[in-house]
Amino acid sequence: MKIGVPKERRPHERRVAATPDSVKRLVGMGAEVLVEAGAGAGSNIPDDAFVAAGAKIAPDEAAALRDADIVLKVQRPLTAAEGGPDEVALMKKSAILVGLLSPHADRALLDAYAKAGIVAFSMEFTPRITRAQAMDALSSQSNLAGYKAVIDAAAEFGRAFPMMMTAAGTIAPARVVILGAGVAGLQAIATARRLGAVVSAFDVRAAAKEQVESLGASFVEVSAEDAKAAETAGGYAKEMSEDYKRKQAQVLRDHLKKQDVVITTALIPGKPAPRLIDASMVAEMKPGAVIVDLAVEAGGNCELSEFGKIVVKHGVTIVGHANVPSRIATDASALYARNLWSFLSLLIDAKEKALKIDWEDEIVKGMLVVRDGIVVHQGLAGGGK
Ligand code: NAI
Repeated sequence: MKIGVPKERRPHERRVAATPDSVKRLVGMGAEVLVEAGAGAGSNIPDDAFVAAGAKIAPDEAAALRDADIVLKVQRPLTAAEGGPDEVALMKKSAILVGLLSPHADRALLDAYAKAGIVAFSMEFTPRITRAQAMDALSSQSNLAGYKAVIDAAAEFGRAFPMMMTAAGTIAPARVVILGAGVAGLQAIATARRLGAVVSAFDVRAAAKEQVESLGASFVEVSAEDAKAAETAGGYAKEMSEDYKRKQAQVLRDHLKKQDVVITTALIPGKPAPRLIDASMVAEMKPGAVIVDLAVEAGGNCELSEFGKIVVKHGVTIVGHANVPSRIATDASALYARNLWSFLSLLIDAKEKALKIDWEDEIVKGMLVVRDGIVVHQGLAGGGK
């Protein structure tokens, strides 16, 4: 059983899909792990550390993937059309690909896996059940992104976060609001509180209120009635009605005028990010305020944020960093590699030291997107044939 770990080649990506810790565990399960030379560099993991953990180093990507039964990736493979290499073509037929495959965003690539005879599992589809918690990469990466967003905001903010009483006068604490209190938002609340800010937060889901308050932040209420119907069975948010959006915009407009820092994390799986802050709301904010838009890759929660850029509009600094988990790559890789290992533990029989997949397992079924030349996932257009 061979496992290949290539270097990530997409822009803004410093993470890697294995660490010495995960390699050691995979080798312990009977795998032979081949890591491409330099794959860990962006996460401060030298090749030697992989070797010490039991991996072999492949001189190039083709060598890392050629014989791999399982390919571990952070992001979806590159294509020739994107300037290549064509990473799907480097994999052997029947290889199992596991990664954050952006299945909603890149349908064409799913068809390419099907055509190439690859079995693809998407980490985004990890079911949110207790048994799968250790595999939940969206949570592990969002948690770090929530932390980093606050640190990025503090770095751009021309004032301090905590209240400071000094001989030269008193500095008032910063007012921070977090929009979207899921995994990233809750970590952002905790981080901003640790830095001494006065924190408030908002989410459409009713369940978020108690979680926000338990972290010592105040909850910005829009409509308790609508919030009851805002959550899907899977725990995610739904797209809200036009009437709700109007009410929400008014409440937010008034609240934002009093804030120094805004961290936005609101997402709806498979849909563009909800637009929560328009240009006129930014124009009414305090000069020197900072917005960090963690949803910028999904189109942004703020109308004025720009992907991969820090811009100043109406005197407000708007941060739209690409791939925030990658900005904290060492920890992000460590947690992601553990998520992958946990998932592989489900596919590998450690006693027999061989692949043994229960295709009826709820987690396996939930994460499988392509098998036997067909896009099988029910949640994808054309899937479930
Ligand atoms: P996410 O990344 O999809 O969205 C982030 C947040 O944005 C969510 O809290 C969502 O409600 C919120 N949002 C969406 N539209 C909004 C709008 N118009 N205005 C304001 N906020 C909006 O969600 P995430 O962080 O992945 O978590 C979703 C849920 O899943 C949470 O309840 C979380 O606690 C739960 N969860 C459960 C796990 C488990 O049971 N194993 C593991 C991880 C998360």
